[in-house]
Amino acid sequence: MSQLFKTKTLTQLVSETEEPGHTLKRSLGPVQLTALGIGAIIGAGIFSTVGTAAAGGGEHIGAGPAVALSFVLTAIACGFAALCYAEFAAMVPVAGSAYTYAYATLGELIAWIIGWDLILEYAIGNVAVAVSWSGYFQELLRGLGITWPAWLGMDFRSAIQASEQVHAAQAAHVDVSTLRPVVLHAYQAYLSAPRVGGLPVVFDLPAFSIVALITWVLVRGIRESAWLNSAMVALKLVIIAFFVIVGAMYVKPANWHPFAPNGFRGISNAAAIIFFAYIGFDAVSTAAEEARNPQKDMPIAMIASLVVCTVIYIVVAIVLTGLLNYRFLDTAEPLATAFSGIGMNWAAGIVSLGAVFATTSVLVVFQLGQPRIFFSMARDGLLPPWAARVHPKYRTPHVTTILTGVFVAAFASISNINEVVELTNIGTLFAFALVSIGIIVLRRTNPDQPRPFRTPLVPLVPLLSVAMCGYLMLELPVITWIRFVVWLVVGLVIYYLYGIHHSALRKGDAAADGAA
Ligand code: ALA
Repeated sequence: MSQLFKTKTLTQLVSETEEPGHTLKRSLGPVQLTALGIGAIIGAGIFSTVGTAAAGGGEHIGAGPAVALSFVLTAIACGFAALCYAEFAAMVPVAGSAYTYAYATLGELIAWIIGWDLILEYAIGNVAVAVSWSGYFQELLRGLGITWPAWLGMDFRSAIQASEQVHAAQAAHVDVSTLRPVVLHAYQAYLSAPRVGGLPVVFDLPAFSIVALITWVLVRGIRESAWLNSAMVALKLVIIAFFVIVGAMYVKPANWHPFAPNGFRGISNAAAIIFFAYIGFDAVSTAAEEARNPQKDMPIAMIASLVVCTVIYIVVAIVLTGLLNYRFLDTAEPLATAFSGIGMNWAAGIVSLGAVFATTSVLVVFQLGQPRIFFSMARDGLLPPWAARVHPKYRTPHVTTILTGVFVAAFASISNINEVVELTNIGTLFAFALVSIGIIVLRRTNPDQPRPFRTPLVPLVPLLSVAMCGYLMLELPVITWIRFVVWLVVGLVIYYLYGIHHSALRKGDAAADGAA
């Protein structure tokens, strides 16, 4: 039993990163790391989920123009969590992020749970981002006069659901052409798809392809990918500035009334969804072994990227809800809708281009992060040893990079974005809460360990982080909780079948006991 909660020492963690054949190349400085953070943060959240957050939809109550306050609420939660992540990232600059921190503080079992849980943040999160990428990509093609076949551009379930909605409308003698355009488009996919065994073949080819392309780039090396990332981050910031400046000229203050149609309930409910927009500052920590000066640069990059993005989001939310009444923003591409809704199609096209770049850079960071977590878990013996191999020429964790690529590409071609966003949020909030608890534990167990960055006001700040993350988790629907619990149970079964028997830490202990 005590073995389950056995922790690794910090020296052990850092020395493992120096083992021959398992070292990554240190090439990233503070600006590249901050760009990596911004690259991970600004994406599908502000370009897609903000629409549902403002207007409501599915099981969510909209915040209305007060979605700007939802961004403030979520930023406070993330700010507390970021202060905790920063202490860890500076003290344990090892690739595994929250997984590694848990190994150092809460023991192997919790570390495994977090590692498993982080798959929801990184891989499942990227499934959502790839689907959003595909939506904007198809929007861009449409703007250029190219029609992408509907059955090759969405998930199977949306097409089936659309066909059910159309049949229900026909049965009720409702004019089908009055259904929402998104439903009619999905029905088109249903009708035009080739059939296999009577079932329509509908899948999202662009979502699949972009993940495959990024995987190929990442196998070849982080330096090249960091350069590509910085260029895309610059571009997306320019296009967001375009949205804000041009949008501000067309704002109608009347659209801000009523400001909070559903009061605080709406604001906090929306906060739980737009949390997705903030995920990513923590992903910087997965590049710790590739940072030139992690002790100083990790905290700077995490906190700077979070602050920059918070300011951008609040301004975008204010302009967005001032451009068009929030009720019309419930589309897959609300920032483009805000412009096309007031007849500015050219501006909508520019925003769509920005969204394609923005979501691409998010995909890069998470496709970069997930393999490094798997890599750390394999190095610890919790996953098979072949997963910890480093490419002889490129020095990247190529096995886990390809594995992640295949998994994300496959799921992205068949998934529905909303469900995937909620699952990502609950998993990430859980990881944030555990990392915050880890800070309190480590201050007690290793009080004298040098801390290049110290979380202020411990235990208050970590406790506030746990409370706020827990609160946002409770705002998510019951079905998301069920999926989350099932995921954790599957993870535990795998641990008992494999990790527990192969853990390097346990084997080391057994060898030491044998020698004694
Ligand atoms: N924050 C990232 C996004 O919004 C995950 O795409």
